[in-house]
Amino acid sequence: CGIIGYVGSQETDVTSILLDALAKLEYRGYDSAGIAVLNPAGTIELHRQAGKITNLVATVENGTRPGNSTLGIGHTRWATHGRPNESNAHPHPDCTNGIIVVHNGIIENYAELRYELQQDGHSFNSETDSEVLAHLIEHAYYGSAEHDLVLAVRTALQRVTGSYSIGVLSREHPDLLVGARCAGPLIVGLGENEQFLASDIPALLTHTRRILILEEGEIAVLRPTGVQLMTLYGTPIEREPQIIDWDAEAAEKGGYPHFVIKEINEQPDALRRALTGRIRDGQLHLPEMERIEHAGLLNGIQRIIVVACGTSYHVGMLAKYAIEKWARIPVEAITAAEFRYSDPIVGPETLCIAITQSGETADTLVGIRQAREHGAPVIAITNIVSSAITRLADAVLYLQAGPEIGVVATKSFVSSVAVLYLLGLYLGQERGRINPEQMQEFLEALEILPEQIQQILDHANSEHDTIEPLARRMADLKSIMFIGRGVGYPTALEGALKLKEISYIHAEGFPAGELKHGSIALLDPETPLVGIATASHVYEKVLSNIQEVRARDAHVIVVATAGDERIKQHANDIMYVPATLEMFSPLLASVPLQLFAYHVAVARNCNVDQPRNLAKSVTVE
Ligand code: G6P
Repeated sequence: CGIIGYVGSQETDVTSILLDALAKLEYRGYDSAGIAVLNPAGTIELHRQAGKITNLVATVENGTRPGNSTLGIGHTRWATHGRPNESNAHPHPDCTNGIIVVHNGIIENYAELRYELQQDGHSFNSETDSEVLAHLIEHAYYGSAEHDLVLAVRTALQRVTGSYSIGVLSREHPDLLVGARCAGPLIVGLGENEQFLASDIPALLTHTRRILILEEGEIAVLRPTGVQLMTLYGTPIEREPQIIDWDAEAAEKGGYPHFVIKEINEQPDALRRALTGRIRDGQLHLPEMERIEHAGLLNGIQRIIVVACGTSYHVGMLAKYAIEKWARIPVEAITAAEFRYSDPIVGPETLCIAITQSGETADTLVGIRQAREHGAPVIAITNIVSSAITRLADAVLYLQAGPEIGVVATKSFVSSVAVLYLLGLYLGQERGRINPEQMQEFLEALEILPEQIQQILDHANSEHDTIEPLARRMADLKSIMFIGRGVGYPTALEGALKLKEISYIHAEGFPAGELKHGSIALLDPETPLVGIATASHVYEKVLSNIQEVRARDAHVIVVATAGDERIKQHANDIMYVPATLEMFSPLLASVPLQLFAYHVAVARNCNVDQPRNLAKSVTVE
């Protein structure tokens, strides 16, 4: 979900500020949206609508548009409790005597609190846990003669278990906005006689670049003249603002029709940034790792567990191949939701690597917290500075990929793979498994990857492109399979995931050799197969798996290495990528697969930036 809040000293068009910011936060959820603005008469104007922000904008324009004001909050929702309809949209109507709350996250003990509040005479309009929170704050606020909103928020939150970030206003305080964070992101934007509360940076860039990032368990008290941070118990906190140097344009589409295609095209730059400073003068530098090494945390490491979800899990699978090969340390990659409940065998001898581009995925956070409790050292790989995962880690390796707005991971995938590979090389070097000549070969191959991705993109953006025409031909598919071996296997899984996420076509990835043990039964002339057949030590094996499929009349598409003429007799369509070392091939092979998924989705008129049922950050378990 996404939260926005505004408080200023002069009456201004708060409605437009909130709606514009919500549009920039929409990638966080788009099941419903709403705004609440305090109008000068002291009443609260509320507008809510199921579906996208554009629906909300239409509702506001067709209704009584709130006048200028000093105070307002807004929300865009990804449903957790209660259906994604208008009555469950935030902010909730003023059934709490002028206290309005927007909420992101889950209140775990809401049923118990709701019962208690009902006994005290509160009645509820929705099924949501958020409304319980609003009543709880109301209860504390009107329960004391002072009507102290900050104290009421603190008192209420002390009763709550769960993960949340919230924004709160009261009609009795036109110059006060309160924010609080316990898990879930929340930031404050500092302006001149106006302050902002938001879930993420892009929502604020047109207003300010001075940002305070709230930590877990902190409250922000925003008044036009300034912002004060404090703990839940009222202890003041001093923090210097960060200056955000992102180009506002970088958070916008920059001329592309969708964020996804923009971000696919940004991959050369994103990858360069992932490598920046880490490869210098032909040497590998990972100062973050050196620090945890000095702390002795890696001394007794016997094995590694990589914990991640979705695309990041595929990165984890690739990390297994790379780290085992280079460092000869056993690696297990496990989806975070499974790890958490598998009673995992972890302790100080198990290095846990968390991969989460958002740094917020609840499954990953919960799993890693548990691993830490067992004494496991933790390395986090994330794109978001100061995100929740960073506080659970002994070392953090940032992707530096810049904002990724499209819900599906593209540039963050490529950057994560690169960073994991650097980590694998580091561990290999530390264990004396990689000699300086080998290291040089690896680093040189890595350094030219951005240029090689650029070549794929340049070709795809030229009149010689074959991917978009192929995608258009494939747009009516019912089902498609992806196969690969070795690092081609996670590449196949990621190719399938991208396609199903944004085109809603049923797509599955399999290890190529496993196909004949069951899944081949699914193949028919209407079910094409995508084979990852780039140059590798298992190339011949992949080829024979492709032949098995072709013998069943399936349409075969392959991703192959430039110059491979032989593949032509085994494939109906070929996507060529430049030659690289086998281990690095996923960084190139995944790019035409992303483009394929994108163009199929566009041809099917799907909403590629905001696919149905998905959210970029899934902050619930
Ligand atoms: C969500 C997104 C996926 C993403 C996954 C993990 O489910 O829809 O695209 O791969 O979360 O996200 P993370 O931020 O932890 O890498």
